[in-house]
Amino acid sequence: MSAPAVPALPGDLDAALRRLKLAAMRRLAPELLVTARTQRWNPEEFLRTLLEAELTARDASNVRTRMKAAAFPVIKTIEEFDVAGSCIPRATFDYLASLEWIRASENYCAIGPAGTGKSHSLVAFGVAAVQAGHKVRYFTAAELVETLYRGLADNSVGRVIDNLLRNDLVIIDEVGFAPLDDTGAQLLFRFVAAAYERRALGIGSHWPFDQWGRFLPEHTTAVSLLDRLLHHSVVVVTEGESFRMKQARTRTGGRPAKK
Ligand SMILES: Nc1ncnc2c1ncn2[C@@H]1O[C@H](COP(=O)(O)OP(=O)(O)O)[C@@H](O)[C@H]1O
Ligand SMILES: [Mg+2]
Repeated sequence: MSAPAVPALPGDLDAALRRLKLAAMRRLAPELLVTARTQRWNPEEFLRTLLEAELTARDASNVRTRMKAAAFPVIKTIEEFDVAGSCIPRATFDYLASLEWIRASENYCAIGPAGTGKSHSLVAFGVAAVQAGHKVRYFTAAELVETLYRGLADNSVGRVIDNLLRNDLVIIDEVGFAPLDDTGAQLLFRFVAAAYERRALGIGSHWPFDQWGRFLPEHTTAVSLLDRLLHHSVVVVTEGESFRMKQARTRTGGRPAKK
C-alpha cells in the first residue's frame, strides 16, 4: 500500500515561508499538516514542531558556518584524543574539555616537542567550542602576524585586532616556528595584550617559555607578552615521544619507520 500523496502547501503560505527564509518549516509543513490533521494535534503542538525544526536546522547551519570561519587546518576531536597516553593530566583535560576557560577568558598553552598533541588538543577544544556555540579562529603565529602586518599598511591594526577579538577563542599555534622581526613581535604583543582578560587564547609552541627570547627579538617583549599570556592560563607541558613516531613504529612492528 503506497502512502497517500501529501498535498502541496497553499501557494500563499509557501510564498510567505520562502520570503521569510523559513526553509525547514517550508519543507516540513505539508507533511506535518497531514500528520496534525490525522492525529488531531492541538494547534500549539503543530506550531511548536515546526518552530523546533527550523531552530534545529538553523543551529546546524550556524555550526557549519562557524566551523568554516574557524579555519582549522584539520578536524580533530576530543573523543579522538587519548588522554591516558598524553601528558595532559585527566583533571586538566576535563577542565579544558568543559570549555569553562573559554567562558572565563583564560588561556590554554600547550608547550612541548613535535608530535605530542599540541595542535590536536588545541583544535579539538576549538571544535568543541564551535559546537557549543562559540566563535573560534585558528592561526599559526606566522599567519596571525601576517594578518596584523597587512593592517599596518593602511593603519588599521586596531580594527583588525578588534575584529579578531569578536571570536571567543583565538588559537595561535606554532609560536616560535619562524623567528619574528621587531615589528612582528610588537604586533604579536599588541594582540596578546588586547586579548588579555577579554578573550581566551589557545597557544601551541615547541619552545619552553624561558626560550621565547629566541624568536621574540626584544627581551622586554617576551617578558611582557608572557606576563599577560600566563596570568590566567592552563599550561600543559607535553613531553615525551612523538605520537607520529609511535604510530609509525606500530605500523612497522616495533622498529622505527625508515624515512
Ligand atoms: N594524545 C593523543 N591521542 C591521539 N592522537 C594524538 C595524541 N597526541 C597526538 N596525536 C596525533 O599525533 C599526530 C601529531 O599530533 P599533533 O597534535 O599534530 O602534534 P604537535 O604537538 O606537533 O602539534 C596527530 O595526528 C595527532 O592526532
Ligand atoms: Mg602542531
